[in-house]
Amino acid sequence: MPYVVADPCVKCKYTDCVTVCPVDCFHEGENMLVIDPDECIDCGACVPECPAEAIFLDEDLPGKWHGYIKINADLASKWPVLTEQREPMAGADAEKTRENKVGEISHQPGAGD
Ligand code: SF4
Ligand code: F3S
Repeated sequence: MPYVVADPCVKCKYTDCVTVCPVDCFHEGENMLVIDPDECIDCGACVPECPAEAIFLDEDLPGKWHGYIKINADLASKWPVLTEQREPMAGADAEKTRENKVGEISHQPGAGD
């Protein structure tokens, strides 16, 4: 029953979320972050921190974003942990409300810490 990063994060990466996670379970890709479902302790602290409202408890995910459960699980093991806040991606303020970005997710890892 972990929390999941969904569509609004893609091409945004505000990274406010990483500063509050007590178990460092955010992993950084080139253009989004994901949560490691095996590490998340379901505290919910990250949810109000995200300016894009991208984080949901898996069972509360809007149906259109259900695929992000598997995306988080698959990519968390391939990407490095990020615990320090970074600058958002260029254009994040416009991208956070654009939908259907699943096809635009880069599988390349981010830099991490
Ligand atoms: Fe980290 Fe808590 Fe968010 Fe899970 S719910 S990713 S443990 S801050
Ligand atoms: Fe993404 Fe929101 Fe964190 S946009 S990087 S889930 S603060």
